Amino acid sequence: MFPQVRMRRLRSGKIRDLVRETTLTTDDLIYPMFVDETIDSKVEVSSMPGVYRLPPGSVADDAKEAADLGIPAVILFGIPKNKDETGTTAYGDDDVVQQAVREIKGELGKDMVVITDVCLCEYTSHGHCGMVDHDTEEILNDPTLSLLGKTAISHVKAGADIVAPSGMMDGMIGAIRSALDDNNFSNISIMSYAAKYSSAFYGPFRDAAESGYSFGDRSSYQMDPANSNEAMREVELDIAEGADIIMVKPALPYLDIIYRVKKEFEMPTAAYNVSGEYSMLKAAAQNGWLDEKAVMYESLLSIKRAGADMILTYFAKDMARMLNSE
Ligand code: PBG
Repeated sequence: MFPQVRMRRLRSGKIRDLVRETTLTTDDLIYPMFVDETIDSKVEVSSMPGVYRLPPGSVADDAKEAADLGIPAVILFGIPKNKDETGTTAYGDDDVVQQAVREIKGELGKDMVVITDVCLCEYTSHGHCGMVDHDTEEILNDPTLSLLGKTAISHVKAGADIVAPSGMMDGMIGAIRSALDDNNFSNISIMSYAAKYSSAFYGPFRDAAESGYSFGDRSSYQMDPANSNEAMREVELDIAEGADIIMVKPALPYLDIIYRVKKEFEMPTAAYNVSGEYSMLKAAAQNGWLDEKAVMYESLLSIKRAGADMILTYFAKDMARMLNSE
């Protein structure tokens, strides 16, 4: 008790560094990239200042810049020229993501871990993450699974190191794991978007990836923000089906979920600091209302403190620059 105990003793100068419990390093960062087949030069995403869509030909340079900053991994999202009912351009050998994977691996090889987002919403004309029955407007689970398997295989054939299914279809991890194993890709890891909430914080991403939907919403497959036990069931199932890394998404409004997942499962755990979390801080900083660097660091540190081992974040390069200059 006070006055024998004084918490302030450990708070000054280098002692503060000695007792620091959580550290953030460039090794924790995953840099999301948008590769767009419909453009010839880079285009800034209006709702995400500092985030660009890149034509396939310029992704290698951008990934190299990330590698030079010490960032170990990128995750790729594609914007195809053509969309159709079944998302055909998600799984062709020469489609946009497959091209981008080849470019990055060709340039950087083992110096960059290439993760690919495996989902159909950027490639379907209706914008949903699964096949659709238009009469009932139902998003069909089981017919989607084989397409996700095909998509994953096409990414891995192009050179992807990790596939990251984000569509929240039941059984998608098992289906992709079997597809990988049947095609002699048993060494490829799966990062599962296991606890993915139906979140309004994805708004700016849908501008970036042109993945808005033509009817309804995603609440028949993404989770209710009110639920926490359900996230544990999702994660448990995905581990049983063969996931190697578990993701919680979004990050900041779901730190309790990150904490619980890490504590209960002790799995490699990723958190997605999503588009809306980025845009909020950027907008406030642009208005002079918040100190951008300070809030970026504090936010990402808090995600690690909650239990994440790695963070997918649009701040990856800025954060790496800040860490490298310390
Ligand atoms: C695709 C996907 C989404 C995000 C990642 N993968 C959008 C969605 O589910 O609507 C969101 C990422 C972000 O907001 O930064 N299924």
